[in-house]
Amino acid sequence: MPMPFANTADQLLPTGYAAPGSGAAGRYPDAAAMVSAIRPDQPIYCFRPHVLRATARNFIDAFPGRVLYAVKCNAEPIFVDALRDGGVCDFDTASLTEVALVRDRYADSRAYFMHPVKQRGAIREAYYRYGVRHFALDHPDELAKIRQETGDADDVTMMVRLATPRGAAVYDLGGKFGTDVAGCIDLLRAVQAGGQKAGLCFHVGSQCLTPSSWATALRLADEVLRGSGVPVSVLDVGGGFPAPYVGLYPPPLDAYVAAIRDALPDAARAPGCELWCEPGRALVAAGASLVVRVELRRAGFLYINDGIYGSLSDLKYAGLRFPMRVLRAGGRPSGRLAPFSLFGPTCDSADVMEGPYMLAEDVREGDYIEIGQAGAYTLELRTDFNGFLPDRFVEVTDPAFLPMPAMEPTEATARAAE
Ligand SMILES: Cc1ncc(COP(=O)(O)O)c(C=O)c1O
Repeated sequence: MPMPFANTADQLLPTGYAAPGSGAAGRYPDAAAMVSAIRPDQPIYCFRPHVLRATARNFIDAFPGRVLYAVKCNAEPIFVDALRDGGVCDFDTASLTEVALVRDRYADSRAYFMHPVKQRGAIREAYYRYGVRHFALDHPDELAKIRQETGDADDVTMMVRLATPRGAAVYDLGGKFGTDVAGCIDLLRAVQAGGQKAGLCFHVGSQCLTPSSWATALRLADEVLRGSGVPVSVLDVGGGFPAPYVGLYPPPLDAYVAAIRDALPDAARAPGCELWCEPGRALVAAGASLVVRVELRRAGFLYINDGIYGSLSDLKYAGLRFPMRVLRAGGRPSGRLAPFSLFGPTCDSADVMEGPYMLAEDVREGDYIEIGQAGAYTLELRTDFNGFLPDRFVEVTDPAFLPMPAMEPTEATARAAE
């Protein structure tokens, strides 16, 4: 067991914790035990490798094709190692750093460069040094760029990215990347004319709640494949598979898989075509919770030691309500819940998360809040703005901390919080 900190100066050292990249030090039955043992001054990620392993195994078993983990969602090596232990060998990478991370760490892993706009040097290094053979694109100039930087290699698969309509996704990714049906047809023909293999990919948007969004995207993919007449070796249905948050309970993965199976274009059922997906959030969200400390209570507002410039930007920009509960070292908070809003630690008044979040009504300074579903797009988006950088990990062995309907504010409590 790590020792409690002896004094304030020591509290700034990573004693008893692990810095990112070095694994999680300290293992506890759950976040409450960690809080009682350490009483941490800084935010702590409670990492659950058993949850990550099981989630990876379930996804791979359920999906009728190759499952690429989207590294951007959480590139922290201890998380990627746990997914790897759960059977993930294929990685959607968007930068040379991500390519290097997986290729240097796992000799038998495969990386696919799925960012449609790449630096020339990154293409070269990925191809020649790391053996990457799949590159995404959505513009003729990017096709020319990849050809130039790989010496017109004929062992490259060009993954043409199709733009899909904004559906029920919390984050729309279609505005920035992808081209329409006609653009995809032109690109596929150009790929074929240049002697390379072709693939087709899309992304329906992150945290997409409706399986029918994949059916819509696959109908467009069918138009592209029929219209071009170009055989593809890969159809990649992207990421976007959702995780549950408070008030957002998506259908089970099977419903997404069924929608994809039913809408699969004939060309994608051909023996030479592989089906891929690139989940991020759905694989890692439940793999960690985050424990923050309450530094001050001002009526219905709690000032905490992490915020939108740290791990919690999704609380503000996506309006996602993560599951939360109050932990009190050496005591028990009230079982009665009341609505609260949160302020992050920086001096920016934009650093606020309105919620409302239902927390023990007697929450007070020195209490901790465990925030569940904190494995996806949290630590990846951290900054050290104002000198606050959450970077401490411990391992916990309890089940994932998931949202429940009881965490939802009722109409009356939400009104009281306004
Ligand atoms: C190309 C690509 N693939 C996969 C993902 C992962 O998406 P998600 O975390 O929603 O599954 C993203 C996210 O931005 C992406 O841009």
